[in-house]
Amino acid sequence: MMFAEYKNDSLYIEKVAFADIARQFGTPCYVYSRAALLESAREFMEAFPDALLCYAVKANGNLAVLETFAKLGCGFDIVSGGELARVIAAGGTPSKIVYSGVGKTAEEIECALNAGILCFNVESFSELDLIAAVAEKLKLMAPVSFRVNPDVDPKTHPYISTGLKENKFGIPIEACLDAYRRAAALPYIRVIGIDMHIGSQLTAIAPFADAVQKLLPVIDALNREGISLHHIDLGGGIGVTYRDETVPPLKEWAAAAQRILGNRAERLIVEPGRRMVARAGFLLSRVIHLKPGSPHQFAIVDAAMNDLMRPALYEAWHPVLPVVQHHDVPKTHWNIVGPVCETADFLAKDRALSLKQNDWIAVGVAGAYGSSMSSNYNARPRAAEVMVDGDRAYLIRKRETIESLFANETGLIL
Ligand code: LLP
Repeated sequence: MMFAEYKNDSLYIEKVAFADIARQFGTPCYVYSRAALLESAREFMEAFPDALLCYAVKANGNLAVLETFAKLGCGFDIVSGGELARVIAAGGTPSKIVYSGVGKTAEEIECALNAGILCFNVESFSELDLIAAVAEKLKLMAPVSFRVNPDVDPKTHPYISTGLKENKFGIPIEACLDAYRRAAALPYIRVIGIDMHIGSQLTAIAPFADAVQKLLPVIDALNREGISLHHIDLGGGIGVTYRDETVPPLKEWAAAAQRILGNRAERLIVEPGRRMVARAGFLLSRVIHLKPGSPHQFAIVDAAMNDLMRPALYEAWHPVLPVVQHHDVPKTHWNIVGPVCETADFLAKDRALSLKQNDWIAVGVAGAYGSSMSSNYNARPRAAEVMVDGDRAYLIRKRETIESLFANETGLIL
C-alpha cells in the first residue's frame, strides 16, 4: 500500500496534502503516516505469529509512535534509562521490555529492575556482575539472556554491522557457555534466554540464518548442563528499500528462522526498529535558496544534517519528492543541502528535480533513525513532528524553541 502519492501534482500522505502540513506546522517537520505504522506492525505479527514483537525504540522514540505500537500489544527493545522512561510514559508494558546495550549503568539497571522488565540482554561479564550486584542490593531477581556475538558478516554498512568478532557487541560465541555457567551460579540472576543482533539494514537472509544456526549448539549444550531457556531473541536488522535494494518479504525471514529452529519450545522474540517505522516517515522541508553553479547546483533547504544525519554519517540515499510538481520549470540536477556549516551537510546529491525557491520537498523513508538521531548542532531547534491519520494531521511534538536550547546553561558564574 502507498502512503504517499500525487493527486493533481500535489503530494499527499494518506488524505492530507504535505503542502497543508507545511503551512500549518511549518518546516522542517517530520510527518508520519499512522496507517503505515499499523501496517508494518501487523505485517510482523503475521510473519512471526508466536513471537513477542519488541520494537527497537532507538529507531523512533516519539511517544505517539510508541503508543501506537503499545496499543497493538507490542513489547519494546530499549538501550537506556531514557528509553525505558519513554516506553513507560507511552503506556508500554514493562514485562514486555528487553534491555540491550553494552553500557548499562547501575542506576539504569536499578530502574529497569524496579520497573519489572522481561529481560536484560547482557553483553559482557562485567555487566553480568553489575546486574547481579544491583539485584542483590534490591533483593530482586534479574532475568537475563546473553547476547551472543556469532562472528558473521551481515554485509551491511560497516558502521551498522554488530555481529563480527571485531565489534564491541555481545559475548564471543566461544565464551558463552562460561557466561551462562557463571550466571546460573549467581543467587539473584535468573537465566531465561539467548539473544543475537548482527547488524542493521540487512538485505540478505543468509547472514541472519547463519547466525541463528550458530545459536543452536549453544542452546543444546546449555540444556545438557541443565540450563534451559524460555526464549530465543533474534534481534532486529531487517532492511527496507531506500533506493533499489531488494529485501526479501518478512515471511521469508520468518520461514528461514523456522527452518533452523523447528518446533523448539523456546518462545521467539524479534526486535525490529527500522522496518517498523522507516517507510512511515517523511522529512518535510522548504527550499530557502537555489544556488546554480559549476560543477554543482545547490538547493539549500531548511532541513539539515542535524535533522537527518543518515546521509552525512553513512552516505545514505533517501528519496526526495517535490511536494508540488511543476511542469513549467526544467529539471536540474540538484544537490539538496542544509544550512549547517559542514560539507557533509547534505540530504541528497544529484537529483533531477524541477525546483523553485520556496518549494517544499519531502525526504522519504525517513521515519527510522531520523528524528531520533537529530541534534541541535548550529543552535538549530529540533524539528516538529506530525502524525497523519486519514484526513487529520496532529502535532505530536512541538518544534523546539530557541530559548530551550540554552535553558540548562548558567552563563559565566566564576
Ligand atoms: N536490537 C538491537 C540490539 C540493536 O542494536 C538494533 C539497532 C535493533 C535491535 C534494531 O535494528 P533495526 O531493525 O532498526 O535494523 N543509525 C543506523 C542504525 C543503527 C542501528 C542500531 N541498532 C541507521 O540510521 O541506519
